[in-house]
Amino acid sequence: MAEARPFHWEYQEPPIQREAFRVEGGLPLSGAVSVSGSKNASLKLLAAATLTGERCRFTNVPEIADVQVMVDVLRDLGVVVDHPAPNTYEVAAGDVDWLFVPLEAAAKMRASFILLGPLLARFGRVIISNPGGDRIGRRPVDLHVNAMKRLGARIDYRNGYYFAESPGRLRGAEVAFPGVTVMGTENAMLAATLADGHTTIRPAAREPEVDDLILFLQAMGADVERTAAETIEVEGKRRLRGADHRVIADRIEAGTFIVAAAMTGGEITLRDAPAANLGAFLEVLARVGVEVACEGDGIRVRGAGMNGGYVATDIETAPYPGLATDLQPPMAVLLSRAAGRSRIHEAIFEDRLEWLNDLREMGARVRIEDDHHAIIEGPTPLHGAELKMSDLRAGASLILAALAAHGHSLIHGAHQVRRGYENIERKFQDLGARITHVSEG
Ligand code: EPZ
Repeated sequence: MAEARPFHWEYQEPPIQREAFRVEGGLPLSGAVSVSGSKNASLKLLAAATLTGERCRFTNVPEIADVQVMVDVLRDLGVVVDHPAPNTYEVAAGDVDWLFVPLEAAAKMRASFILLGPLLARFGRVIISNPGGDRIGRRPVDLHVNAMKRLGARIDYRNGYYFAESPGRLRGAEVAFPGVTVMGTENAMLAATLADGHTTIRPAAREPEVDDLILFLQAMGADVERTAAETIEVEGKRRLRGADHRVIADRIEAGTFIVAAAMTGGEITLRDAPAANLGAFLEVLARVGVEVACEGDGIRVRGAGMNGGYVATDIETAPYPGLATDLQPPMAVLLSRAAGRSRIHEAIFEDRLEWLNDLREMGARVRIEDDHHAIIEGPTPLHGAELKMSDLRAGASLILAALAAHGHSLIHGAHQVRRGYENIERKFQDLGARITHVSEG
C-alpha cells in the first residue's frame, strides 16, 4: 500500500462552472414525473461496497454531482468503479492503493466521511479530511469519531485530517449516541459489520435510507438487524461478499415535486414515489389543505391556485419518522401561500433558516426569530427576483418559489441543486415549467 501523499499541497477549489436558472413563473405544472433514486441512500451504499473485495452492482442510482464525487473518491483510492449504464454503478474494492480521503472531497461533500467506518474496518487504517459539506450549521463529526474509538480504533486529529487506525480487527461494542445521528449510525454500523464481536447502536437513526443500507449489508452476508425502533445490532463477520441492490426512491425529491404542484395550482402524478416514507410530510400537507392521493408507488397531487384556501400550520423538524429537516425549506415555500401565521421550528440544524431572507425578496412575509425558529404569514403572492442559491435544499426551494411567482426569476448558483436532484430542470420542463439553464461562464 502506497504511503499517503504529503499534506503540504494547497487545496485550490476548482472554479465552479457558474450557472443559473431562468424561470418564468405563474404557470400551473401538470403531468407525470418519475422520482429518482435516493441521494442519501446511494452515497452510503457506494461506500459500503468497500467492505468487500467482490463486485457490487447498484441500480436506480441518481445521476447527480454528489454521486460523481463519491465515485471519484473511490477511484482515487484505487477502487474499481464501472458505470455500465445510466443509473447503474458497479464497485469492486479488491485492493486499494492508499487510504486517503482528501480535503477536496470533504470540502465538496460531507458524506465523504461515511468512508471512515468501512475503510477502517476493512483495511485497518484511513486518513480522512474533516468534512465541510453543506453550509447548514457547524456539522461536526465528533459522534462518528467517538463511535470508532468505542469500536477500538485509535484516531488522532492533525492539520484538518483524522488519522485513524485499528491495530487488528475492530472490536464489537455498545455504541451509545447522545442523540440521533443518521451518518453516525451508518458509519458505526458499517464498521461493526467486520468487527470482532457484537455491537449495539442506540439510538439508531430510523431514516428509510438506513434501512435500505441494512438490506444491502444483509445481502452481503452481514449479520445486522434493527432489533427495536431505535436499536441496530450487528454480529461482526470476517468477510462479506458482493451483492446487487436497487436504491430506494428519494423521498426528499418526491416532497419537492409535491410542493411544486401545490404551489402552482397544477396536477402532478409522481411515479416510483416512496409514499410510505413521507408520513409526517403528508400529514402536514393534509393540515395545510393540499389534496394528495397515494396509490401504490404513485402519488397524485392537485394544487390550488393563489386563493387556494391553504391553511397556516406550525411545523417542527425531527429525526425520522418526524418531519424531515430536508423538507422544511420546500414546506416553508408552501406556507407562504397558506392563510394565517405558520411557525417553523427547525430542530435539527442551527442555521437552515437563513435562506428565508431570499424568500422574503420574492414577497413572502417572513420573520426569522433565532437559529431554530421562524414565522411565515400568508397568503402572499410571490414575485420574480434575482437570487443566489446557498445550499442544496434551499436552492430547490427557490426554484419552487420562482415557479409559483408572477414574473421572471434568475437564480444563480444552480450547481447547488445538481448535487442532489437528477435532471431537475428537464423534469420541471416536462411538467410544463418555463425554466432554462443559463451558463454564466
Ligand atoms: C444526514 O446528515 C443527511 N445527509 C442530511 O441531508 C439530513 O439533513 C440529516 O441526515 C438529518 O436527517 C446524508 O445522509 C448524506 P445528522 P447527517 O448526523 O448524518 C449533529 C441533504 O441535503 N451532529 O443526523 O450529517 C448535527 O450537527 C443533507 O441531503 C453532531 O453534533 O446529519 C445535527 O445537528 C443535508 N456531531 C444533528 O447531529 C456529529 O458527529 C443531526 O445530524 C454528527 C452530527
